[in-house]
Amino acid sequence: MPTYPKRLIEVDLPIKRISAHARREKSIRHGHISTLHIWWARRPLAACRAVICAALWPDPVQDDCPPKFREDAEAIMAHFWNPIGRTDLDFHDPMALRKALLDFIADFSNWDNSTKKEYLETARALTQSAHVALGGAPGTRPLVVDPFAGGGSIPLEALRVGADAFASDLNPVAVLLNKVVLEYIPKYGQTLADEVRKWGEWIKIEAEKELGQFYPKDPDGATPIAYLWARTVTCEGPGCGAEVPLMRSMWLAKKSSRSFALRMIRDQEKKRVDFEIIQDVKPKDVGEGTVRRGSATCPVCGYATPVASTRKQLKARRGGAADARLLCVVTTRPGQQGRFYRLPTERDLDAVRNAAAELERRKAAHTGRLSLVPDEPTEQYHTFVNRGPIYGMVAWSDFFTSRQVLSMTTLVRLVQQVGDCLVVDCDSGLAGAVQTCLALIVDRQADATSSLCRWHLTGEKHTATFSRQALPMVWDFSEVNVLSESTGGFLGAVGWVSQVCEKNALNLASGHVACANASNHPLPDDSARVFFTDPPYYYSVQYADLSDFFYIWLRRMLSGTYPDIFKTKLTPKDDEIIVQSPGHEFASEGKNNAFYESRMKIAMAEGRRILEPSGIGIIVFAHTSTSGWEAMLQAMIDAGWIITASWPIDTEMANRVLAQNRSVLGSSVHLVCRPREDPSGEVRTDDVGYWSDVLSELPQRIHAWLPGLAAEGVVGADAIFSCLGPALEIYSRYSRVEKASGEVVALKEYLEEVWAAVSREALGMIFESGDGSGLEEDARLTAMWLWTLSAGADNGDSIDNNNENEADEDKSPKSTMKGFVLEYDAARKIAQGLGAHLENLTTLVEVKGDKARLLPVSERTAYLFGLGSHAAKKEHKKKKEQQATLYGGVVAKVEAETGPSSELSVPAPGSTVLDRLHQAMLLFSNGRSDALKRFIEEDISQDQGLWSLAQSLSALYPAGSEERRWV
Ligand SMILES: C[S@@+](CC[C@H](N)C(=O)[O-])C[C@H]1O[C@@H](n2cnc3c(N)ncnc32)[C@H](O)[C@@H]1O
Ligand SMILES: [Zn+2]
Repeated sequence: MPTYPKRLIEVDLPIKRISAHARREKSIRHGHISTLHIWWARRPLAACRAVICAALWPDPVQDDCPPKFREDAEAIMAHFWNPIGRTDLDFHDPMALRKALLDFIADFSNWDNSTKKEYLETARALTQSAHVALGGAPGTRPLVVDPFAGGGSIPLEALRVGADAFASDLNPVAVLLNKVVLEYIPKYGQTLADEVRKWGEWIKIEAEKELGQFYPKDPDGATPIAYLWARTVTCEGPGCGAEVPLMRSMWLAKKSSRSFALRMIRDQEKKRVDFEIIQDVKPKDVGEGTVRRGSATCPVCGYATPVASTRKQLKARRGGAADARLLCVVTTRPGQQGRFYRLPTERDLDAVRNAAAELERRKAAHTGRLSLVPDEPTEQYHTFVNRGPIYGMVAWSDFFTSRQVLSMTTLVRLVQQVGDCLVVDCDSGLAGAVQTCLALIVDRQADATSSLCRWHLTGEKHTATFSRQALPMVWDFSEVNVLSESTGGFLGAVGWVSQVCEKNALNLASGHVACANASNHPLPDDSARVFFTDPPYYYSVQYADLSDFFYIWLRRMLSGTYPDIFKTKLTPKDDEIIVQSPGHEFASEGKNNAFYESRMKIAMAEGRRILEPSGIGIIVFAHTSTSGWEAMLQAMIDAGWIITASWPIDTEMANRVLAQNRSVLGSSVHLVCRPREDPSGEVRTDDVGYWSDVLSELPQRIHAWLPGLAAEGVVGADAIFSCLGPALEIYSRYSRVEKASGEVVALKEYLEEVWAAVSREALGMIFESGDGSGLEEDARLTAMWLWTLSAGADNGDSIDNNNENEADEDKSPKSTMKGFVLEYDAARKIAQGLGAHLENLTTLVEVKGDKARLLPVSERTAYLFGLGSHAAKKEHKKKKEQQATLYGGVVAKVEAETGPSSELSVPAPGSTVLDRLHQAMLLFSNGRSDALKRFIEEDISQDQGLWSLAQSLSALYPAGSEERRWV
């Protein structure tokens, strides 16, 4: 095999620090490209920036590192670090130079440094030196290609660090975003920002003239900023027929310092409910909402109209936004802080009726090629992405009220008009750029202006349509005043977009943008230096379906400017590489796993084709199942790639751990690869490796990686994923691996060996003094299990898990699995590697579907204190009633059921060391100090193994857990 100088990313990467910056970046808003427009599953720029640098720059420690790069890097690093007083590094020493480069990468991934001149210049100088040293022609730049470019994070960072970028995506909306980020902002920078602001304000003024009457100010000068509505159904209770407003809650504002709520006034006779607003209320004074999971409880007669009827009724009224009930108007008052809440008046209702009438007039007068109102159908969407059709919202226009459509169509027309003015006014390139940005502003407005928006109770602000990657039904919605200068208004959107232009005006070179299918890439063979991409992940996001929400508006504004990419009525779907039927691997309809995997393999083969033989590939994969992982790895290998490293960065573990109760081993892993090619670019097909060689190399490789990672604080699942790459290199550098019998070894079989090797190595680290082999299988498994779930220090950011707005009727309650949950397949692999058998460990581990749960110690009480299986069953039956007891006094409970306490307070010592330790922990947890003392003195004091296991587990049980305290 030909070899090429290793890049930094193939030897080391400061993933802890980069991840911290990536996480922090999520709270950064002003000027961040994510605020230009929604795109789903954007990668943090911090991670992209670091990865690109480390992929472009060679590792100075390697013997074959080009000497010129080493020389340049020495000078550049000295120039960068010395002025900041960094004297600990002797840049002549290649190891120190490597450290200097990695430290630079870590610091540069900080958002605050991303626009600083000294960082930008340093990065660009290193990129240029590496490029030429690795054979690039002077005066050219290395090309970074991303065929799944989405919102453009990867190519933007390529430009920032001094590379050239080629970004493509199948989706027209994504292509447009890339054009703004990679072509227009680099080219027009501050001018673009200024023009966008100027014309955005012009649109606001013009819109005000036309629309002001439909958002009237209050007679006392207050300005309505949002109108809170509820869809309604007719009560189907016997003889009732009252109108039931569908409300999730009666709250309007729920801050500790300020609170408002609605209170119902029932009129039994008229079968009608009215409202009053109450202020400074306590939770107990606020009534329940009327709708729960789609079933609507009548405030008049109490009858619950079932979800099927709710749906049927709303379906007949195309979602029921048009005749929803206005409940409350939120206003601001001149010179006064805060929001005010008032009941609606006739004026408000007149304005709504007038808007509807005006829209009808305009519809009748409209003569354009495309309908005025976006009447494109929505019935084709899967209900897990778009729930509108279930309720009769069968055209996109049904997702908006008449007043919303009136405002949106007015803005659309004004953007078209600006386009006409601009063509006369300035160069056509700039005109197109300005018009495109204005169209994105209108898109932002669409996001804030549908009937799927909510009022955020604690933030007292309007929440836009896309707070998640789906369009759920929202019963009670917030309609923003488009003209207001407060939350959700048009001027706000102008501000966001112009700030992005301003902040990113960095004198970057322009990138190249294309609308293309990744499975059929437009670039020629061997033209890229780096292939770095973040492809879609199975069913997690249905980009094309979601993006239609914006496409319908964009097409009306921009099809003249971009006739090629706005050809079709809706976004193209056929070639999109996703899974449409989660859980149905062999679904007969729609795209299934097999479709996804086969297309992804073609796209990966395309990536290898366009990459030069000495180039480097990085693919971000995030998938929660190990089988998904295996399929993707197999696709990479089949597509002719050698996997050389893998880095989990910003794995969102912190978030997901909270959201899903520690059930996730899925992370965003950057898989680093090289083409398995001859220098000519031909894929090598006849390198055969021997299984015995592969197997003997594996543990050495793991041993060389894992402790290094641990030293940097990378442990648990992150460490396991970091080991996969190097382990896979041993296997994937061959075209195939054969056993002595000639049988070909499947990747799946090899991966089992990898997990086993990692588990053994990790166990060796956990039990520093030995490898834990003296312990029984339950202790080995427990230790490794906890280690896998551990995140190391400083990884436990809390998140704002504000679920109060979850509106969908079908939301199942949050999973409340207690204990330590791993995906079953991962647990099985770990167990196997440790020679433990899950099926023998049923008193320690519970397997349920695709999850395996290491039982909390408290749940082992029955087993450890001698309750037989009959009693255990009884326990299970009475689970609910027992919960309280379990927390209150486990031992007491068991005693009550099985006999006098004196016998049980010192249990018969468990049969394994782990059991005995857990017994002691439970005695402690129940305050049975005498019993515990006796147990220690008589049974376990001499048990050295137990004390050392306790020592190890005390570090592994998660901080804050009961177990940690007890042990
Ligand atoms: C995970 S997203 C990329 C996100 C991007 N890295 C960012 O930070 O914004 C995956 C992208 O793949 C695109 N896509 C799906 N199938 C495609 C195909 N066949 N060809 C090109 N792009 C495709 C989707 O439109 C989506 O934008
Ligand atoms: Zn009723």
